[in-house]
Amino acid sequence: MGELTIAKSAGFCFGVTRAVNMVYEAIEEENAPIYTYGPIIHNDEVVKDMKKKGVTVIDDLDELAAHKKGVMIIRSHGISKAEFDKIEKFGFKILNATCPFVSKIHRYVEEYSNKDYDIIIIGSPKHPEVCGIRGWASDKSRVTIINSIEDAQKFSDNSGKKLCIVSQTTFNYNKFQDIVEIIDEKGYDITVLNTICNATEVRQTEAKKVAHGADVMIVIGDRNSSNTQKLFEICKNECKNTYYIQTSDEMDYSKIGSNNNVGITAGASTPNNIIEEVSKNVRNEL
Ligand code: F3S
Repeated sequence: MGELTIAKSAGFCFGVTRAVNMVYEAIEEENAPIYTYGPIIHNDEVVKDMKKKGVTVIDDLDELAAHKKGVMIIRSHGISKAEFDKIEKFGFKILNATCPFVSKIHRYVEEYSNKDYDIIIIGSPKHPEVCGIRGWASDKSRVTIINSIEDAQKFSDNSGKKLCIVSQTTFNYNKFQDIVEIIDEKGYDITVLNTICNATEVRQTEAKKVAHGADVMIVIGDRNSSNTQKLFEICKNECKNTYYIQTSDEMDYSKIGSNNNVGITAGASTPNNIIEEVSKNVRNEL
């Protein structure tokens, strides 16, 4: 008889699981309208389900004036201090689902900014997580976002201040190190805080291991999800019978022989119920 191995790191990371659970708990427990500031996760099915249960997504805080007061849930990416203050000023209760790893970066930036450091954030300037992080520096600190080797080469700070360097949680570690090295070589007094979260790396390493031992490997995730595409590539290299599916219906389960070892992993925004459904159907074949 074949065996099924489901990667432990398949699907939501710790921070996203926590945020999604907070929304569902709020639906059960709160007696007021529930809002999320931006979609809680990049998964249409989940966002639609929450909408059906009465959750409204707010994209711009200025919209709040037109809404009934209620509970505002902050997603795992986090927000700036000014945004927190604004939501409170509108009289909304805040449920903070910012991932604790992101909150830690907010505290670093606030602390070092108060100690009169200038701040460098290594990350993508438009990413909501980076915008949120930026918003924890005081007005006294200059904040520079560096996303590439070229940005690092061009960087200069003539203030004579010390520099505190943090990173977006999902930034590539090797690139982070290269950027830090370039800035260090310019002779600044730097404090480097590596705030990269290893959830993505753990998921990829485990996917590789599971695919290596599998006759058939199934990768579940949205077609447009870049982290799922990456997982697919990694698994395909290890197991030529790797299938990339979005939903259970897309899998041709007749491809699975009763003696096959089957592996399953899933991208960061794939809900558990899809992983469970696929697993159940695979087990029926073994
Ligand atoms: Fe997820 Fe938090 Fe890391 S949201 S990717 S566990 S920083």
